[in-house]
Amino acid sequence: MNPLWPVAKHYIAGESVDEAIEVAKKLKQKGFLTTIDVLGEHVRTRYQSEAVVKEYEDLLKVITRQKLHANISVKLTHLGLPIGTGYCIANLTKLIDNAAKHKSFVYLDMENGEYVQKTIDIYKRVHKHHKQLGIAIQAYLYRSAKDVEELMKIGAHIRLVKGAYKESGARAFPKKKDVDENFKQLMERLLLKGIYPAFATHDEKLIDYAQWFASHNNIQKKKFEFQMLYGIREDLQSQLVNKGYNIRIYVPFGKQWMPYIIRRLRERKENFYFMVKNVAKTEMRNIRVHK
Ligand code: FDA
Repeated sequence: MNPLWPVAKHYIAGESVDEAIEVAKKLKQKGFLTTIDVLGEHVRTRYQSEAVVKEYEDLLKVITRQKLHANISVKLTHLGLPIGTGYCIANLTKLIDNAAKHKSFVYLDMENGEYVQKTIDIYKRVHKHHKQLGIAIQAYLYRSAKDVEELMKIGAHIRLVKGAYKESGARAFPKKKDVDENFKQLMERLLLKGIYPAFATHDEKLIDYAQWFASHNNIQKKKFEFQMLYGIREDLQSQLVNKGYNIRIYVPFGKQWMPYIIRRLRERKENFYFMVKNVAKTEMRNIRVHK
């Protein structure tokens, strides 16, 4: 067993579609919406990305059959961006058409800085003819205020996140307080002018502020949604759903979980100690077995 698995399983639904569907069903019973992500990124071959498209297509079928309140989240480097832009767009549009057929929706995750412009360009190109498409925008980037304004002009569905990758000070606010402030400002713009925006954060201060700002400006609860990651702040997820907000849980699954877990571990130092403890425990067990 991978020594990180005990940590990983806290943050992902499992390694198979069935496990993801089980989680999405349970979340639906509790009143949550979901967005399901097939873990993986940076494919190198057409064979790999076609398998990814197929996995998403199978997932969409099950989502419809089980009447789950779910859509899908994808990464462009998983759909073949490293192989070619045209090829990636073909895979993406195939998936959106499929999602539309199933009355579902596709969110583009935003990857590291190298892919931001490409992701936005592809989004704009594809969104002209395929409206069931949303995009994540990272508040830690200096450029995001301008991107949000431009994307709102074309009626984009934006998921606002803080940003999960290691970026240089040339691209991103180095200080957390500036990232939080930028998130707050972009959230205000999206609440006032965006089309059904999503605020993807577990930051209670920002979530409280969104609720206050929306009610102060007579923006109804159902005009936006909060999104959170599977396994993080379940208490807060439940509180918000009980208050009548739309809450969508990001449910990742699949065998390629390592980069996702590393990002989650990097986000909090407590997670790092948790990981070290678990790895040490597994290693001790292995030593005992091999003795
Ligand atoms: P912040 O880091 O300030 O954390 C606020 C609180 O949340 C913490 O105090 C803690 O209680 C809890 N928390 C946060 N991270 C935790 C963790 N790993 N383990 C346990 N508790 C934790 N990023 C990106 O670059 N591109 C993308 O496409 C997406 N997509 C995306 C979708 C959805 C639905 C969500 C919720 C997030 C993303 N992200 C993302 C990740 C995002 O950029 C960010 O890294 C995380 O959400 C953590 O930041 P918070 O906004 O929660 O704030």
